[in-house]
Amino acid sequence: KKVVLAYSGGLDTSVMIPWLKENYGCEVIAFAADLGQGEELDHLNEKAIETGAIKIYIEDLREEFLKEYVWPTLKAGAVYEGKYLLGTSFARPLIAKKQVEIALKEGADAVAHGATGKGNDQVRFELGYMALNPELKIIAPWKDDKWTLTSREAAIDYAKERKIPLEQTKEKIYSRDRNLWHISHEGGDLENPYNEPKDNIFMLSKTIEEAPDKPTYIEIGFEKGEPVSIDGEKLGAVELMDKLNKIGGENAIGQIDMVENRLVGMKSRGVYETPGGTILYYAHNELERLCLDKETLHYKELISKKYAEIVYNGTWFTPLRESLDAFVNVTQETVTGTVKLKLYKGNIVLAGTKSDYSLYSEEIASFADTELYDQKDANGFIRLFGLPLKVRAMLKNKKK
Ligand code: ARG
Ligand code: SIN
Repeated sequence: KKVVLAYSGGLDTSVMIPWLKENYGCEVIAFAADLGQGEELDHLNEKAIETGAIKIYIEDLREEFLKEYVWPTLKAGAVYEGKYLLGTSFARPLIAKKQVEIALKEGADAVAHGATGKGNDQVRFELGYMALNPELKIIAPWKDDKWTLTSREAAIDYAKERKIPLEQTKEKIYSRDRNLWHISHEGGDLENPYNEPKDNIFMLSKTIEEAPDKPTYIEIGFEKGEPVSIDGEKLGAVELMDKLNKIGGENAIGQIDMVENRLVGMKSRGVYETPGGTILYYAHNELERLCLDKETLHYKELISKKYAEIVYNGTWFTPLRESLDAFVNVTQETVTGTVKLKLYKGNIVLAGTKSDYSLYSEEIASFADTELYDQKDANGFIRLFGLPLKVRAMLKNKKK
């Protein structure tokens, strides 16, 4: 028997390797997705093998992550509960997809993940497995009767008994999840929503106080709703994201602190850093103001909300998401152009937009009459538009 474990090298998924072997009598294949979590990936290879995995796959999925998961969500303008840019949410279906592929290749009969039974991630992983291979057995140690390692101390003891290499056993304060799009911080002192996040929590960005006293200008180019350049320089998706994270982080952009509603019913408090992503959402939205007609723009706002729920709830591999993508992609045909922004101490300020597909007409908007807009036409328009208001007012007067 073989199981493919979604492995990060952290304490939980490390102890899960011997735990799976001991409790399920199976071989463990570790899988780590490189989604841009940086130094977390260092020495993962040796570590997994020393811990007892028969094999480890480390796949660079950064480009696929951005192009197939992040850009569609950006184009949809999806934001969960008005704040969260979904950085952890859309990474899970991709990890699940690769895990299922590896299971098929290796002839494994089960997949396993390290998410707890109290969060969103378990749902996202497991819905991914179910949608892509319903035959696979799912092992979620945190929800398993045999799992006794529920405290950090117990897990560390368990690891020490088995001589498992651990990076730092010193106290871990926050539960974090990092990739090219964001980092999340949960737990510890953040569990009390009245506690302000400590300055040293931030890992991708400076604090507002540390950010420079001078603004940074930046120009972002989009093609069909996808970001393609910074300051006129064409960049690949990964490079572009890296660069924007640096610029955004330097200016303390994209720090979010929120209490959110998890799918499993509880409220939880999280702090997020999404420096580059916040810039992209802002810029993309501004370009749409120029390039989309009123009705499409307004209807798309409804889609955004639904799309965010889909991503957050992990129903990525569904016909509904694919159908919404089809709608969004049609709207993005003309979202091509440039957005100029001023970044300053945590703020993004619009400094200009331009597009060859702009529907904005200076000629129509300015005060003088033109062939396309005759002010006298507005008389008739308002008479009809206001007719129901007038009829109702007349009725009221008659009743008095
Ligand atoms: N609350 C966020 C979400 O549901 C972040 C979850 C972070 N996950 C983690 N394993 N640390 O998407
Ligand atoms: C977890 O509980 O595993 C992390 C938090 C979440 O999934 O929401």
